[in-house]
Amino acid sequence: MSQKFDTVVVGAGPGGYVCAIRAAQLGQKVAIIEREYYGGVCLNVGCIPSKAMISAAKFLDQVQNQSEAMGFTIGSVKLDMGQLKSWKDSVSKKMANGVEQLLKGNKVTMIMGKAHFESDQILKVKTSSGEESIEAKNFVVATGSRPLSIPGFDFDEKNILSSTGALDLEKVPKKILVVGGGYIGLEIGSYLAKLGTEVEILEAGDTLLSGICEPDVVQVIERKLKKKAIKLHYKAFAKGYVKSGKNITVTADVKGSSQEFTADKVIVTVGRKPNSDEMNLSAAGVEVNPLGFVKVDKQMRTSKSNIFAIGDIAGQPMLAHKASHEGVLVAEVLSGQNRVFDAKTVPAVIFTDPEVASVGLTEKQCVEAGYENISVGKFPFGANGKAVSLQQTEGFVKILADSESHVVLGVHIVGPQASNLISEAALAVEMGARLEDLALTIHPHPTLGETMMEAAEAALGHAVHIIQKPLSHKKKLQPQPAEL
Ligand code: FAD
Ligand code: NAI
Repeated sequence: MSQKFDTVVVGAGPGGYVCAIRAAQLGQKVAIIEREYYGGVCLNVGCIPSKAMISAAKFLDQVQNQSEAMGFTIGSVKLDMGQLKSWKDSVSKKMANGVEQLLKGNKVTMIMGKAHFESDQILKVKTSSGEESIEAKNFVVATGSRPLSIPGFDFDEKNILSSTGALDLEKVPKKILVVGGGYIGLEIGSYLAKLGTEVEILEAGDTLLSGICEPDVVQVIERKLKKKAIKLHYKAFAKGYVKSGKNITVTADVKGSSQEFTADKVIVTVGRKPNSDEMNLSAAGVEVNPLGFVKVDKQMRTSKSNIFAIGDIAGQPMLAHKASHEGVLVAEVLSGQNRVFDAKTVPAVIFTDPEVASVGLTEKQCVEAGYENISVGKFPFGANGKAVSLQQTEGFVKILADSESHVVLGVHIVGPQASNLISEAALAVEMGARLEDLALTIHPHPTLGETMMEAAEAALGHAVHIIQKPLSHKKKLQPQPAEL
């Protein structure tokens, strides 16, 4: 028997579940189809479990390395990895259960099964009790992405791990080799190092986080990784491996010469690919680009007018908050609201230690965008009272603004709580705020947030808590009159 809905969402990750809830709030009859887990990659094998592991490792690091200065004598700390894994799983489970409750509470019909298109009007779903047909006025494809592997390194989740296997280790490995120094490689590599693993990273590029972070931000991260004894190899490509006993020996091309690396596990984190090959999208006439991302317009509509795509499957950046933003947008479009994707910036955060966060343009992008004069204000966490009392003084807040208008173009943070501090910067960029808006907003003391205010003041030439060279006459900024 065929079921009929206004909107059917496929995939219950942060794109899909948010879309289904918002559509239901707006009065639609909605179904969501999920093959594996409510909350998708993010809540089950991505954002949430990785952040749980990162917070545990940070806790251990603080106890081991920061408590003595405060006068505590703490004996040797033992880690029960089994207990840490169960705690991490309980955090994910709590969040995923919450998603189920929200879907139920909003009267979304939940169907557990694997969906594929039969046509642009009919979806077939394989459930534990057979196959059913689902019809809807509109469909939303939110089926996400999966880890990318490299030739010769198929994931077995025993020796060669994807992020999923790496987040689920039963024991702390003695030594790991991470292939790919991007978001996941750095986050997982950093927390494993704190738990006691020897970590080596092979990165294909000639720097870390190229194109995502400012070079001075990368310097801070690199310095800290080295301090934690994480070895970095650039222009390094893993070619193959042999396993002998407990050891895996990887052969890699590093800057043109062959080198061997030995480890007990290899983690491959070289990006993710969209799950667009798994749903028979061609039967529905939905087009994908050469990288496999579904082609969408500014309303996230695919080449078929009744089918939408959101989240990782609809393209970069592959981030949970972008997926959720698109989910709300599509639900509102489907309910007759006039919405398009017009966000000026999607914040990016990398949960290394210290954290990295950015919004808007980098200095290079400002130049490429044609801004002739850029004002740069930088304020170090070392000059912030709260950061000093937290013993977390590495890094800075850097604000880039147009010298003429003082409009904030980009904010780049490396330092404590960068992930939380960046929201104020995102609002500034979205609203077209000027340096004065940040500098004249009273920020509570003592807080890390004061660094944002002082970085804006630095760009204006008058941060109080650092010694600033006077701005040259040419660069001196004219005060902007407040509009009445
Ligand atoms: P997904 O979360 O991938 O959900 C898609 C869902 O669709 C899945 O549940 C899947 O089972 C289901 N599905 C697929 N095919 C079918 C089908 N045919 N039928 C039925 N169901 C189907 N992003 C951040 O913003 N912050 C972070 O800190 C962060 N950390 C991450 C850490 C790791 C280790 C990883 C791997 C990713 C991380 N991400 C993070 C990225 C984030 O997880 C993704 O951007 C986000 O999950 C994308 O959401 P989505 O809804 O598009 O897809
Ligand atoms: P990534 O794209 O962030 O990084 C991949 C890295 O691997 C790059 O530095 C690239 O140069 C390198 N690389 C590519 N091929 C290589 C090869 N053959 N050998 C060595 N290095 C190679 O991809 P990652 O880390 O897998 O993460 C996937 C996505 O998941 C991210 O792009 C991001 O969208 C999302 N994510 C977001 C997080 C967050 O918001 N904090 C955390 C984790 C993931």
